[in-house]
Amino acid sequence: MRLFLDTANIDEIRHAARMGILAGVTTNPTLMAKESGISYRERVVEICEAAKGPVSAECVSRELDALLAEARDVARWHTNVVVKIPIDEVGLEATSILSAEGIPINMTLIFSANQALLAATAGAAYVSPFVGRIDDAGQDGMEVVRESVEIFDRYHLPAQVLAASLRHPRHVIAAARAGAPIATIPYAVLTLMLKHPLTDAGIERFAADARRYENEPAREQAPS
Ligand code: E4P
Repeated sequence: MRLFLDTANIDEIRHAARMGILAGVTTNPTLMAKESGISYRERVVEICEAAKGPVSAECVSRELDALLAEARDVARWHTNVVVKIPIDEVGLEATSILSAEGIPINMTLIFSANQALLAATAGAAYVSPFVGRIDDAGQDGMEVVRESVEIFDRYHLPAQVLAASLRHPRHVIAAARAGAPIATIPYAVLTLMLKHPLTDAGIERFAADARRYENEPAREQAPS
């Protein structure tokens, strides 16, 4: 499974890249709006350079010609850009046209396996079920991931399920067990995945014990 970071924060992305766990990045207008002092285009290019993998940049036009123009423009910003498009009639039409032109599409705001099937059939390279938001609505978000993975596998659809809106580390494990090839996670979830109190206690204990033998006089070499 590949891990993407769900953020537009460049420091978080660079840190994840340095730790060697970053395979790509997803952004959305809400995440972009949290960043200040930089244009959307500049930040997307900056992220592409740092992430060295697919970077989803969302398009917001809702009329076909405008959406196509916006998507083609965004796709030209960097070779790593994946154009993110919400699913609806216009979104599917644009996905069909753009994917035929070789522009990779991440179809977003997926809340059912039926939507996932439509997105994959239209040619989306990535399909993003929003697990946490489905859970919030009182349904089982991971079931949509499971069903989508099963359908894509059974019918050899090339689209990849990108488990999104993951809120905690157990979501990541569940997505991995459901067979999602990609999970996109907020930086806070990455931190929670990494930390364990027994690891912290173990590091502290080993450091204390190392200080004890470092302070001892050198042990005599045993005769061989
Ligand atoms: C994915 O591409 C989305 O940006 C993201 O996972 C949405 O997550 P949220 O429901 O926590 O906003």
